[in-house]
Amino acid sequence: PPDIPLANVKAHLARLQTIADANGGNRAHGRPGYLASATYIKDTLDAAGFTTTLQSFTYNGATGYNVIADWPGGDPGDVVMTGAHLDSVTAGPGINDNGSGSAAILEAALEVSRQALRPAKHLRFAWWGAEELGLRGSRHYVNTLPAAERARIKAYLNFDMVGSPNAGYFVYDGDDSDGVGAGPGPAGSAELERVLQSYFTSIGVPTRGTDFDGRSDYGPFISAGIPAGGTFTGAEGTKTSAQAQLWGGTAGQAFDRCYHRSCDTTANINDTALDRNADAIAHAVWTLGTAAPPQ
Ligand code: PHE
Ligand code: ZN
Ligand code: ZN
Ligand code: ZN
Ligand code: CA
Repeated sequence: PPDIPLANVKAHLARLQTIADANGGNRAHGRPGYLASATYIKDTLDAAGFTTTLQSFTYNGATGYNVIADWPGGDPGDVVMTGAHLDSVTAGPGINDNGSGSAAILEAALEVSRQALRPAKHLRFAWWGAEELGLRGSRHYVNTLPAAERARIKAYLNFDMVGSPNAGYFVYDGDDSDGVGAGPGPAGSAELERVLQSYFTSIGVPTRGTDFDGRSDYGPFISAGIPAGGTFTGAEGTKTSAQAQLWGGTAGQAFDRCYHRSCDTTANINDTALDRNADAIAHAVWTLGTAAPPQ
């Protein structure tokens, strides 16, 4: 699996910041900064050879958009899907939440194109609208997908906040191995957890589980019985002293003190966390996408 260039991921974040600056300081649902963000993502993928769709929906009297990008080829009956929400809250530019996940999966997709990857499975990437208003874009996608199409999606990987300044390294607890919090994900989620964990193990970074508590776009996929996974570096929660010993950073402070605030700018990014998570995404896409089908 490739080493995703951090500089490229950060260039996408700079572009999203510029878009927010030019559009009233945010990239929120129904605001011009959102459509400009979606257009940037779509145009970049079109130029790289993806087949893209701008899927629109209505919420709260405003039009929202999902960008869906398919990499031609692979088994159409075995789809590996990777997603991130692209909208911000109205309070700020949303660079960690969730420019970070959006930029990291974009660069993983572009790496697929640069390598002219010929995966066994079909790869699809998605940038969701209106997550901040209740997972509206991802719910629209899953709920309007014909049942036969839905059954072809064998895995959904979600990345929401992967560059938190006081980062933790959380992987969704697909098997509920700690028996705490929300239960396990659909069967198959445990494998996605292991694939992501194995990357962090390979670089010597310990991880901890985080629950499928319904706070991001894996929610509609889990509800539809689709195996899900992903990583997360923390939001408004406070880093404990045990977590600071494990990962460094500052105990007693939020993982992201600028969560949902105007200070969630390009200055609100931990480059090391962003770099590791971008590489974890590529590891998962390559591992799951190129795995031989069961014999
Ligand atoms: N989905 C939350 C938001 O966008 C952030 C979050 C992600 C919280 C994952 C918990 C777990 O604001
Ligand atoms: Zn948010
Ligand atoms: Zn988010
Ligand atoms: Zn687990
Ligand atoms: Ca758990």
